[in-house]
Amino acid sequence: MWNCKYFYTGFALQYKIIVHLVQFTMIKAVIFDLDGVIVSTDEFHYQGWQRLADEEGIYFDRKINERLRGVSRLESLEIILERAVRKYNPKEKTEMADRKNKYYRDLLHTLAPDDVFPGVERMLKELNERGIKIAIGSSSKNTPFILEKIGMEGTFDAVSDGNQIKRSKPDPEVFLLAASKLNIPPGQCLVVEDADAGVEAAINAGMKCLAVGSARKNPKAHLGANNLTEITVEQLLQI
Ligand code: G6P
Ligand code: MG
Repeated sequence: MWNCKYFYTGFALQYKIIVHLVQFTMIKAVIFDLDGVIVSTDEFHYQGWQRLADEEGIYFDRKINERLRGVSRLESLEIILERAVRKYNPKEKTEMADRKNKYYRDLLHTLAPDDVFPGVERMLKELNERGIKIAIGSSSKNTPFILEKIGMEGTFDAVSDGNQIKRSKPDPEVFLLAASKLNIPPGQCLVVEDADAGVEAAINAGMKCLAVGSARKNPKAHLGANNLTEITVEQLLQI
């Protein structure tokens, strides 16, 4: 009789712990990187940097450009200057970063809602229908401008971007800020990223990660895909 009682009490306790663990690890929010995940601004970044590098006579190519994904503007410039034949002072560096941003913003003016990547709107709608929160986590200071150009300024529950952080990816700051704005623990957030630095930032934040595009083969990500058209909302939430 007593044995039976203890057996059932133990069973109920185990059941409660399992339910608790499942709830604790359940995805409650998805944080999207912007450039290269929601919209193809990554190509405009490349064109802006290429123009600046050509003007300065610094060697630059698409392979070097891959290292700039997810990295802040000034850190990107430092990577480009690794190939420079002379040293640049801080004032010159600021001028160069501003010049590149001007070229980049000129290109951004052509951006429109049609430029949003296929699969993005469906995914956002389906996440919404399931009560999953959605946020942006981007190193870009141009995030508000880009969201406005693609008609998504009011789409996300939270926006965490380069204007609000001190350390860019692979530091987890931008994703942790998004999670705190949503009031959801990092362990219940999933990040969608196209940059290796961003995948690393997600893992450093203690979040799950779907890697797309350039980062799709990153072994640190929990799942990889070419783009969001290849992933169902169920697959995303089961990661
Ligand atoms: C994103 C891009 C990076 C870019 C960074 C800063 O993370 O992937 O390539 O350098 O934003 O962008 P910004 O618009 O502030 O120059
Ligand atoms: Mg990106």
